[in-house]
Amino acid sequence: MNKIRIAILASGTGSNAEALMKKAQSLNSVEVTFVLSDKVGAGVLEKALNLSVRHFVVTKQSDRREHEQRVLNLLREYRIDWVFLAGYMRLLSLEFLQTFNGWHGGNSQVVNIHPSLLPAYPGVDSIRRAFEDGVEESGVTLHLVDEGMDTGPQLMQSRLPLEAGESLADWSVRFHKLEHQTYTQFLELVALGQIPTSPFEET
Ligand code: GRF
Repeated sequence: MNKIRIAILASGTGSNAEALMKKAQSLNSVEVTFVLSDKVGAGVLEKALNLSVRHFVVTKQSDRREHEQRVLNLLREYRIDWVFLAGYMRLLSLEFLQTFNGWHGGNSQVVNIHPSLLPAYPGVDSIRRAFEDGVEESGVTLHLVDEGMDTGPQLMQSRLPLEAGESLADWSVRFHKLEHQTYTQFLELVALGQIPTSPFEET
């Protein structure tokens, strides 16, 4: 049976990407076919290298459409089934999503993980902003990607209460652990077919 083919798009350190790559390597029915970053020298690239995962850099172009076209070309060339965003600091356009999802019977197969209980705290610095607001809890949301900023339909959510006296740094560590758990759990559900995959098919 063909493996389910996943591309991870990431701009930064890549701790989520690393957790996903390791999990995929322990499962028979999925593979991380490649990692793509828009940033030269991003930590995620070294993590991919260390795990022998193919990796590409597609840097920012003056024209957003041209950048997205280059990314789409790779997704098509490698017949990618799912795109997992993991700290990818770019919004995807509706045209991009329609093209990719069009290769999968129109189903949404682009997902993202975000460190807040969306719709609260979309965008950057979500953990710090929640902490500075003095919230009692926040959490992690896994969601389908639309063209908005962290606005797509939610798939999984896990809560993370702030413990008494806990520092922002300690809470952040627990956030990242929870993100890795949530994202790898989702990957496992995809691998087991409990979340169905529409395979890549060019129309
Ligand atoms: C994570 O907190 C993720 O939820 C957010 O960006 C961060 C990326 O961290 N979208 P890493 O590069 O996976 O370590």
